[in-house]
Amino acid sequence: MKTALIFGATSSIAQATIMKFAEQKYNLILVGRSYSKINEIKLDLLVRYLDINITLYIFEPSEFHSHKDLINRIFNEHNIIDFILFAHGSLPDQSQIMNDHISIVRLFEINTLSIMSYITLLVPYLKVQNFGTIAVISSVAGDRGRQSNFVYGTTKASLDAFLQGLRNLLFNNNINIITIKPGFVNTPMTSHLKKNFLFTEPEVIADGIIKAFEEKKDIVYLPKYWQLIMCIIKIIPESIFKRLKL
Ligand SMILES: NC(=O)c1ccc[n+]([C@@H]2O[C@H](COP(=O)([O-])OP(=O)(O)OC[C@H]3O[C@@H](n4cnc5c(N)ncnc54)[C@H](OP(=O)(O)O)[C@@H]3O)[C@@H](O)[C@H]2O)c1
Repeated sequence: MKTALIFGATSSIAQATIMKFAEQKYNLILVGRSYSKINEIKLDLLVRYLDINITLYIFEPSEFHSHKDLINRIFNEHNIIDFILFAHGSLPDQSQIMNDHISIVRLFEINTLSIMSYITLLVPYLKVQNFGTIAVISSVAGDRGRQSNFVYGTTKASLDAFLQGLRNLLFNNNINIITIKPGFVNTPMTSHLKKNFLFTEPEVIADGIIKAFEEKKDIVYLPKYWQLIMCIIKIIPESIFKRLKL
């Protein structure tokens, strides 16, 4: 039986993805900040899918001293892990961030540094397996800095560069690194935003994540039309872009 490990299992996109893996009878390792929340997800899955194994772990991404122990425990308690997803992340209000310089550091700890740290610790285990997939939910916001969310976007852009180098490094180890770049998704993270036709549901993103895993993709925009949108946004000259209210 195959195994999927999900960090940030309480995220709406993660939960939709977990459901797809459960349908395929994967063993599931769910990692979240709140035991009660991830246990609720486990109980719901067990009602729907009787014959899957689900293990729970607690994490606190900004407590870096705890990372090594967590990764060692997970890999010592599970022999082979086929798929690993990082879904935790935070989208704070940009104007508040600009009034509190420490919150920039905190945001990088959650969105970027914690993921780099966990990945660095788990790569040696994947090398021993000699296969595996790591998928990280980044964002289209990392493709170009915009006044409305550029600190969040910078946390994702840094992740993108890290994953790009890692993909290059691990190519000969049969380890696939997938950068997932969703556009607007209807989740608690965006509940404060005015909805428009570009918003999509977590289930659509989950389907895209599974497909990217099965097809060993490198970078995926979800839904796909965001690739074209970001391509256009990226080619706007800076002299014009800086004048736009985006
Ligand atoms: N929604 C979008 O439009 C969109 C677009 C592009 C990319 N993304 C990315 O997709 C990923 C999943 O987001 P989502 O849309 O599914 O949002 P969500 O349902 O609001 O989930 C957010 C997740 O991040 C965790 N989290 C939030 N703040 C945290 C903190 N300070 N420390 C540790 N964990 C924290 C939450 O854990 P708790 O349950 O414990 O709070 C939860 O697991 C994120 O990386 C996000 O940046 C989202």
